[in-house]
Amino acid sequence: MKIAVIGTGSVGGTLGRRWAELGHSVCFGVRDPADADAKALVGKIKGDARLAGVSDAAEDADVVVLATPYAANAAAIASAGDLSGKILIDVTNPIGANFTLAVGHTTSGAEEVARLAPRARVFKAMNQVGFEVMANPTFAAGKPVMFVAGDDAAGKKVVLDLVSALGFDAIDAGELAIARLLEPYAMLWIHLMARRNMGRSFAFALLRRQS
Ligand SMILES: NC(=O)c1ccc[n+]([C@@H]2O[C@H](COP(=O)([O-])OP(=O)(O)OC[C@H]3O[C@@H](n4cnc5c(N)ncnc54)[C@H](OP(=O)(O)O)[C@@H]3O)[C@@H](O)[C@H]2O)c1
Repeated sequence: MKIAVIGTGSVGGTLGRRWAELGHSVCFGVRDPADADAKALVGKIKGDARLAGVSDAAEDADVVVLATPYAANAAAIASAGDLSGKILIDVTNPIGANFTLAVGHTTSGAEEVARLAPRARVFKAMNQVGFEVMANPTFAAGKPVMFVAGDDAAGKKVVLDLVSALGFDAIDAGELAIARLLEPYAMLWIHLMARRNMGRSFAFALLRRQS
């Protein structure tokens, strides 16, 4: 699958590397393709990975991953060009001042992304743990859970498969508006990490009874 990852930071760099190493063709969409750090990141990836401008990366992709600071989402989406029909995975968390959510209750960051990219098939996923867990989701107790929200059934199967391939228990949480739950849920992870001294090597899991 052709995946464009907008952003080469902690999350974009990690997800792009992992999906390239799993056999996908990854193009990082960056503001400056000559940036030395971005080149170094791509140079270390054992797989099909390259750098391009944001619109060039997105144009060629089936799946576009938005891995920018929430405040940069509008600019990043505007620079991505025509996203009609493309799967757009929003990993961003709308973090405001003092660990509050900048949006919520009646909308979500993901729904705001969908307003910015109205012809894309938008999903919320990969916003619910730190990037270190994305790099290595292996825990002795089982797979960490990762909820996926979005409206398009065919696109959701693709996103669930991409999330599962990373090593997560990928769960279809419902329509895109369920991001109104998934973003505060991510804030719980951030709160436990930053304010309850739990470090960054933890994740939540879903337990099921067979009967
Ligand atoms: N860090 C985590 O563990 C974690 C976990 C889950 C979700 N998230 C969410 O994921 C998102 C990314 O977090 P991060 O920690 O990866 O951030 P980061 O390390 O600061 O990386 C942000 C990336 O976005 C790029 N960027 C900024 N503005 C842009 C624009 N207008 N167009 C294109 N690219 C732009 C930056 O590129 P430049 O070099 O050009 O500035 C950089 O590569 C955030 O919304 C965060 O809330 C983070």
